[in-house]
Amino acid sequence: MSFPKDFLWGGATAANQLEGAYNVDGRGLANVDVIPHGEDRQAIITGKMKHTAFDDKHFYPAKKAIDHYHRYKEDIALFAEMGFKTYRFSIGWTRIFPKGDERTPNEAGLKFYDDLINECIKYDIEPLVTITHFDIPMHLVDEYGGWRNRKMLEFYERLVTVLFNRYKGKVKYWLTFNEINVLFRDPFIGAGIVFDDGENEEQVKFNAAHHELMASAIATKIAHEVDPENKVGCMFAAGAGQFYPASPHPEDVRAAQVMKQKDYFLIDVQSFGEYPNYVLKYLEREGISIPFEEGDKKILNENTVDFISFSYYGSFVAERADEGGDIKVVDNPYLESNDWGTPIDPLGFRITINDLYDRYQKPLFVSENGIGAYDNLDENGYVEDDYRIEYHAKHIAAMKDAIELDGADVFGYTTWGPIDLVSASSGEMSKRYGFIYVDRDDEGNGTLERSKKKSFNWYKKVIETNGEDL
Ligand code: BG6
Repeated sequence: MSFPKDFLWGGATAANQLEGAYNVDGRGLANVDVIPHGEDRQAIITGKMKHTAFDDKHFYPAKKAIDHYHRYKEDIALFAEMGFKTYRFSIGWTRIFPKGDERTPNEAGLKFYDDLINECIKYDIEPLVTITHFDIPMHLVDEYGGWRNRKMLEFYERLVTVLFNRYKGKVKYWLTFNEINVLFRDPFIGAGIVFDDGENEEQVKFNAAHHELMASAIATKIAHEVDPENKVGCMFAAGAGQFYPASPHPEDVRAAQVMKQKDYFLIDVQSFGEYPNYVLKYLEREGISIPFEEGDKKILNENTVDFISFSYYGSFVAERADEGGDIKVVDNPYLESNDWGTPIDPLGFRITINDLYDRYQKPLFVSENGIGAYDNLDENGYVEDDYRIEYHAKHIAAMKDAIELDGADVFGYTTWGPIDLVSASSGEMSKRYGFIYVDRDDEGNGTLERSKKKSFNWYKKVIETNGEDL
């Protein structure tokens, strides 16, 4: 026995990275729309630079992205041709509530997702929905300060209540927040946070984290009430929390443990229903508080996730703190990296799956895995992406070992960006993950035409053979 019979093979995307049509059919402005490609992007994503509207100086890739909004039928037909069993996509919050604090949803936005979901079902593709993938109405950022504000719970509750009722019986798998731990690194995309000068940034991030954890638990409660068949998962950037020690020196081992805990604590809350002691003690020492209100602990405790979903791209290395007290993240001399410096580590994938299954003992779903690469078209306009095939083949083999040899319960695998889309970190189109090539460049030129890369037929064969023929 290797992969389970009903293993959910597929691909994953995010609304803001492929839909485009940013102002169509009543959609409101979102944080992700106003993040430009280019030099300021990093400062904006990390909440260090306030940039909350369009200007003429920058190019904003999310505005049009790959225009999936108008081409979703063609794209889903291609996914179906590869044999997808599932498609993970996210909801653009501002399609449903353009400002975020309205009481009545935008029917045209709901209709778009009706059509998208029906299109999946037509091909027997199980829709798997991320409720928010780095996506917050800009009005909620401007008026309320994003997730630093507890008022967000109310708006999120309104959103999920509409979604769970509207798609009842059609969507069963839900993820509440994409890569929830990313908010500590990239608070603008993770939580809509722009820092004020001189404020305690750690405190703001922990406030936002608590609010997202509460919102996730409330969503889980509502999902189960609306339909007991619903399964709700967290979404953990697990690679970002996979730290090896730089040496066997106990101080390096301890450094790796500390770095891991920084990411794992959020999933501990979502899975165990309470904050772990290591984080409570850390906060006590740092003078940071968690903005608990009456009843919060009970809600967290009673509404833990049904499964653990996670992304994995590569692993990292931690070295004991320098004189300033900061743990250093250093290169791994045993691993190669892609062109953006992400280490390639298939065995780390097996290790991560084991870590997660040992710790949580809940079903696992790999919601993202892939390699960003520059693709070159040959004279026939074809991409021979053997490097992508090799990356996925090795990672799928490692996942197979984790299932077959280690006994981990993994029920699905969605590759990141089965069709080329806008990169979340760099805003580039040229950082490509797809099995399907999209003719568009970093400045927005191109026909948007779709074509199959070599990896297209390879992944089709993988799915056909249920992971046996890699
Ligand atoms: C994950 C995100 O962090 O990695 C995706 O959930 C993102 O949104 C993906 O696109 C790949 O990262 P990048 O920066 O190469 O697009």
